Amino acid sequence: MLKPNKLAKKNFLSSLDLSANEVLHILELASNFKNKKINIDLNNKVLGLIFDKSSTRTRVSFQVAMTRLGGTTIDLNPTTSQIGRGEPIKDTARVLSRYCDVIAIRTFDHSDLEEYAKWSTKPVINALTDLEHPCQALADFLTIHEEFIDFKDVVLTFIGDGNNVAHSLILCGALLGIEVRIACPKGYEPNPFVIKKAREIYKDDNLLKISNDPHAAAKGSNVLYTDVWSSMGEENQKKKKDTDFNGFTIDSDLVANADKDAIILHCLPAYRNKEITDAAMESENSRIFQQAENRLHVQQGLLACLLS
Ligand code: CP
Ligand code: NVA
Repeated sequence: MLKPNKLAKKNFLSSLDLSANEVLHILELASNFKNKKINIDLNNKVLGLIFDKSSTRTRVSFQVAMTRLGGTTIDLNPTTSQIGRGEPIKDTARVLSRYCDVIAIRTFDHSDLEEYAKWSTKPVINALTDLEHPCQALADFLTIHEEFIDFKDVVLTFIGDGNNVAHSLILCGALLGIEVRIACPKGYEPNPFVIKKAREIYKDDNLLKISNDPHAAAKGSNVLYTDVWSSMGEENQKKKKDTDFNGFTIDSDLVANADKDAIILHCLPAYRNKEITDAAMESENSRIFQQAENRLHVQQGLLACLLS
């Protein structure tokens, strides 16, 4: 039976916290969990969940993952705990380290997550920040792997805002050596630090392409991926972003430009007929709900490694 390996780093704050081999190991574990080939008992270990933003998939998949691993979760709602009162992160982190075995945090500022991890003696997982969504990327690459087997043959095109979800795809894509194309309106390009880091990892610099032309980017792609135009916390920018992203919808024209067997992904939740048409979401090419299911399996793999 496949056994979880201990990861080199204590925390999973960024896609960059894993090596390529560690990503592949977590994906293999996830496949084994999915196919019920392994069973791991974490002996009542406790995962604390601190979510400053809403969540369905991340929260529930972590809860179910821990239950399946023989552990449990505590939902630390910031409004009913002292976190919402503004207790210093360094105090909360040191206290919760004495109760919980691992913590998953969804918050705004990535630096708050890093501050928490600095003071926590237990592993900390990024459950989404404004900078990255690395757990999502693991599920995305499992979904891609299930379809294409060899990552080296895959062209992944992300059409949308160059923020958290795109950043983790770029970094994890770089680790796996996949061609990643990002098409976004001018002014919504990915963070230059993320691009720089990815280019340092890629053996071939040409494998990361950033453009403002969704149709050119989609040409011949094997995977078309999108995310909401207005992320959580950006609700007041919705009107402007809807205008700026006009022409960046994954629709039948864009799908026709991609490879004929291309799959369509979306991290969800979606605004149908904004970043993706209803028809594209429901089409035969869509693997969106398989992708959502895979959140559960990769998180089982990740937790098994972090707690082993
Ligand atoms: N994709 C994702 O993280 O979904 P939730 O916001 O529902 O967790
Ligand atoms: N970019 C989106 C992803 C949600 C899973 C957000 O940050 O709201």
